[in-house]
Amino acid sequence: MVAKYLYIVEKFITFFIENIFLVRIKGVPLRHESKTIKNYIVMKHNFCAGPAVLPQEVIEKSAQAVYDFAGTGISILSISHRSKEFKPIVDEAEALIKEILDVPEGYSVLFLAGGASMEFCRVPYNFLNKKAAYLNTGVWAKKAMKEAKAFGEVVEVASSAESTYTYIPKDYVIPADADYFHYTTNNTIYGTEIRKDLDSPVPLISDMSSDIFSRPVDVSKYNCIYGGAQKNLAPSGMAFVIVKNDALGHVDRYIPTMLNYQTHIDNGSMFNTPPTFTIYSALESLRWLKAQGGVKEMAKCAEARASKLYTEIDRNKLFVGTANEEDRSYMNICWVMQPEYKELEEDFLKFAQGKGMVGIKGHRSVGGFRASCYNALPMESVDALIACMQEYEAKH
Ligand SMILES: Cc1ncc(COP(=O)(O)O)c(C=O)c1O
Repeated sequence: MVAKYLYIVEKFITFFIENIFLVRIKGVPLRHESKTIKNYIVMKHNFCAGPAVLPQEVIEKSAQAVYDFAGTGISILSISHRSKEFKPIVDEAEALIKEILDVPEGYSVLFLAGGASMEFCRVPYNFLNKKAAYLNTGVWAKKAMKEAKAFGEVVEVASSAESTYTYIPKDYVIPADADYFHYTTNNTIYGTEIRKDLDSPVPLISDMSSDIFSRPVDVSKYNCIYGGAQKNLAPSGMAFVIVKNDALGHVDRYIPTMLNYQTHIDNGSMFNTPPTFTIYSALESLRWLKAQGGVKEMAKCAEARASKLYTEIDRNKLFVGTANEEDRSYMNICWVMQPEYKELEEDFLKFAQGKGMVGIKGHRSVGGFRASCYNALPMESVDALIACMQEYEAKH
């Protein structure tokens, strides 16, 4: 009798949570009902800088694979990386990156644990023989430069530190005897971006953590392109690396096995156990990206989202953008309150949160607001944020 009673109560609670509570949370728009996982997924407008918004389809397929990977009856979380089912996942992910970015012959694509920060050290270990040139455009560029200093001479060709990195330096000389010139294409924290492949007397190496796959890139100009996966590709904890094969093997030092790119090239990213689930999600993202029309289409969408939001920031009497206009990022849009409305900052954040906006608080080192608008962010989220900014303006 008691068991029957408990059963009915449990059924009632489950029904309430799945059918009423999740769907009706006040102010949170329900945008999606999952077909594959029998549940409701409540989506907010996710402007987080990373880990960040991923396509709904990628989340669903990844979740499905956690239950049963490709009909194997085993979860993707438990499947061997050496299994016949997993190998094609890595191969297809590599091939799709090559196809999507039009990577020339002679380059390898790697998936490595450790994130972009690990590459700050792996890059000079593998490429810096005597001297390297770095462009200092923010915290991440500085961290990359710090690691390089352990391996040789580092020339900081220019810096915008004196203005809290609100612009991209333009006039500088890259030493022609440097092994490479390193720059961060998109400065996630400050909202500045270099959207073209720079001209340089020496090969380029770039941290493209936060704008990879958002536009076409001329890979042939680079010895190495790397980044953390957690913005435009997959969940966090993994780096993607595109490396020119014959640029390796020219340093005089011993490179520890795991830090040597050659190890991972020789073993197809499987020298040790790779982050299997993250690679699977990356594959689903790449399939999605290709189906959307690839990086050309992503570039159009990125520009459309960013120009809408910047137009509103410039128009709205309460707000002001922080980055130099010509250097504004399409991926991370940063702004603050106009000085006369400064005291409203916290209040606006709360107001926006109440409207379902997530992750718009600026990085702790700059304050204000930041809306990260990566590939998977729907235009409807940008529209919702703009509506929220306008509604707040009307109150003041
Ligand atoms: C441009 C850039 N580089 C490097 C990193 C560090 O990445 P990870 O946390 O994967 O080491 C970040 C993180 O946000 C970033 O935005």
